[in-house]
Amino acid sequence: MFDINNILRANIKNLKPYSSARDEFQGEASVYLDANENAFGSPLDTNYNRYPDPLQYAVKKRLMEIKGVPVRNIFLGNGSDEAIDILFRSFCNPGVDNVILVPPTYGMYEVSANINDIEIRKVNLTEEYQLNLEGIAEAIDKNTKLIFICSPNNPTGNSINRPDIETLLANFSGLVVVDEAYINFSRQKTFIQELTEYANLVVLQTLSKAWGLAGLRVGMAFASEEIIEVMNRVKPPYNINEASQQLALQALQNIEQVNGWIKDTLTERDQLVLQLKEFDFVLDIYPSDANFILVKMTDAKGIYMFLVQHGIIVRDRSKVELCEGALRITVGTPQENTILINTLKTLNEQS
Ligand SMILES: Cc1ncc(COP(=O)(O)O)c(C=O)c1O
Repeated sequence: MFDINNILRANIKNLKPYSSARDEFQGEASVYLDANENAFGSPLDTNYNRYPDPLQYAVKKRLMEIKGVPVRNIFLGNGSDEAIDILFRSFCNPGVDNVILVPPTYGMYEVSANINDIEIRKVNLTEEYQLNLEGIAEAIDKNTKLIFICSPNNPTGNSINRPDIETLLANFSGLVVVDEAYINFSRQKTFIQELTEYANLVVLQTLSKAWGLAGLRVGMAFASEEIIEVMNRVKPPYNINEASQQLALQALQNIEQVNGWIKDTLTERDQLVLQLKEFDFVLDIYPSDANFILVKMTDAKGIYMFLVQHGIIVRDRSKVELCEGALRITVGTPQENTILINTLKTLNEQS
């Protein structure tokens, strides 16, 4: 079954990571002359002249309290996009190994695979946007190192059936990466609890969505200690800057506010669905477990352009296989959603 040594790249297995000044001395001292920083300070109100904690202990400790996952099982990345890239760099040999992707899904898996010269084997989701387990089993060979499953899935919005993900986890000898960027909006429970059950599970989450911190770039990977240890060795030494660490820590105290926004977002989403269904040009709205909805329309491109002309930007997914004719609409504030609906009403009046 799963053995990390079977999938780890030889150069990574033997990698001696960069040892930073902050790695070599970790206590408290009165005079720091070890890192060639500017000892006078920063030309700002707040000083950022010192390098940040390379392993972001304070943020991880708070995440441990919130998620119930030990610090040693948490990796922090410059967005979860960095965690995705590091998984490729740690476990996939360029020009040799392959990854299974299940489109339509989040675009960065493909971009990261291409950057790292990793063959992509696509096994489309079914018409119901669920996994084609037979197709995946056929696509796997001895060089398949990673499978990315996004749940709730971007851009379709639905959650992937849990037993299907469990089947993959139990039978695949590479890593199953479950991207839960939108989990806070979902009725499904997180896979984090399964970390003790499956050694080949990596769960990705982010502070960019429900937590409202996309600009800080803080993403999380939860996995076994041995996987996290590899990711920490491969990452750049100071991948989360000091300002982001401090602000993330502060934000992580405000769970109540975030929970309130999640509730409001779900109420707004339901309302938006009801209002959109009234339009003749809306053909179908797919059930969503996320903070966006995929809406099939008679003329997606035309409606996209109409909205742009009125200063409203949604995501045109109409050229994406299995999302033909669909726009992806993020749930906004009540005011933003009202502007969207009122603008679409003027389109209805024109047509
Ligand atoms: C499914 C999914 N995963 C990951 C990300 C990237 O998140 P981050 O901002 O943490 O890099 C996104 C962003 O849209 C996403 O939709």
